[in-house]
Amino acid sequence: MVGLHWLILLAPCLSLAQDYAPPRYNLSLDLPPEQRWEPVLKHYNYTELKADMDCVFSTSLPKWVHALIRPLAEVDLAFLVPEPYAGEIRGIAKTLGVNVGDVVALNLCYEATAFCTSIIAQDDKGNVYHGRNLDYNFPNMLKKITVDLDFIQNGKVAYTGTTFLGYVGLWTGQRPYEFTVSGDARERGEWWENAISAFFKRSSPVSWLIRDVLNDGKDFEAAALRLSKTPIIAETYYIIGGTQSKEGLVITRNRNGPADLWPLDPLRGEWFHVETNYDHWTTPPPSDDRRTPAIKALNATGQANINTDSLYKVLSVKPVMNANTIYTTVMSAATPEKYTTQIRNEA
Ligand SMILES: *[C@@H]1O[C@H](CO)[C@@H](O)[C@H](O)[C@H]1NC(C)=O
Ligand SMILES: *[C@@H]1O[C@H](CO)[C@@H](O)[C@H](O)[C@H]1NC(C)=O
Ligand SMILES: *[C@@H]1O[C@H](CO)[C@@H](O)[C@H](O)[C@H]1NC(C)=O
Repeated sequence: MVGLHWLILLAPCLSLAQDYAPPRYNLSLDLPPEQRWEPVLKHYNYTELKADMDCVFSTSLPKWVHALIRPLAEVDLAFLVPEPYAGEIRGIAKTLGVNVGDVVALNLCYEATAFCTSIIAQDDKGNVYHGRNLDYNFPNMLKKITVDLDFIQNGKVAYTGTTFLGYVGLWTGQRPYEFTVSGDARERGEWWENAISAFFKRSSPVSWLIRDVLNDGKDFEAAALRLSKTPIIAETYYIIGGTQSKEGLVITRNRNGPADLWPLDPLRGEWFHVETNYDHWTTPPPSDDRRTPAIKALNATGQANINTDSLYKVLSVKPVMNANTIYTTVMSAATPEKYTTQIRNEA
């Protein structure tokens, strides 16, 4: 009996102790692209970073993609990659002492294989909240290289995002007082050939479009339009939240344009939307249903009680959170100081 008591007392402490905030750094947009990442990377051991990148690479990237990209990037990076990404990739490669083509290839690794959950919700006063889990293979390695970055322009935070070191795109980010964005993968199976051919036609990697939209600002509507229409290399879901009532939207993307737009509709009771990796008008497979448990938890929370804290709890319910969950971010564009990422460790 004594032992059981101890377990009950300890259990909550143990699970709390296991989640932690990743490092948060400034990345200065006022520096030339080549010089932006070195101040962030220098906090890490380059030997270990290179080993981590090799691991992502060797498990995620077909050999033919690597063989194709590497020499092309070496010869003509500017043809393959637009600025500022080309300059940033060149700077990362130089700092770490690796081939430019390897960093380009690394940046394609995460394009379509992330299993995720994103939630957009509005409370009964019209405040909009946005949360996401990012799930991926080899979570333990990626947890070590996850960072929150404040992108600084003219001494101010232009936008904030969460990413992996070496990866110049964003799957999660916030433009203060304007909007928040997350992306969830939609592709299945054999997609590399289409993705690479679209990449050569200069369609945007999915996560670069998120960063472009955060970088260029404007407002919720302009950002939603651009996320809906800009050609991208892989099908995806973009989830976007604004600062005003009803500014919440799930965009289901084909490569060349929108397949579906699904706005919040609080007047008809639709005060939240849950998007995992399946079209919202279909039923997720029973083997990977993270949607139903998330909806149950949101129903139980209630519209009056939704906020960044309760949303975090919803994103902690199993299997919404699972063994592959790397991080959870909660955010609300109207209160940008609430942007919070936690590295997750399933107890
Ligand atoms: C960096 O990591 C490598 C491999 O773990 C280790 O051998 C080396 O001593 C580390 N370097 C520094 C400066 O800590
Ligand atoms: C990051 O930039 C902001 C805005 O310029 C500044 O207030 C803050 O002190 C910087 N943080 C660090 C750690 O340099
Ligand atoms: C959530 O609540 C809505 C509205 O009451 C209901 O239609 C739906 O079935 C509930 N979903 C789950 C999974 O509990």
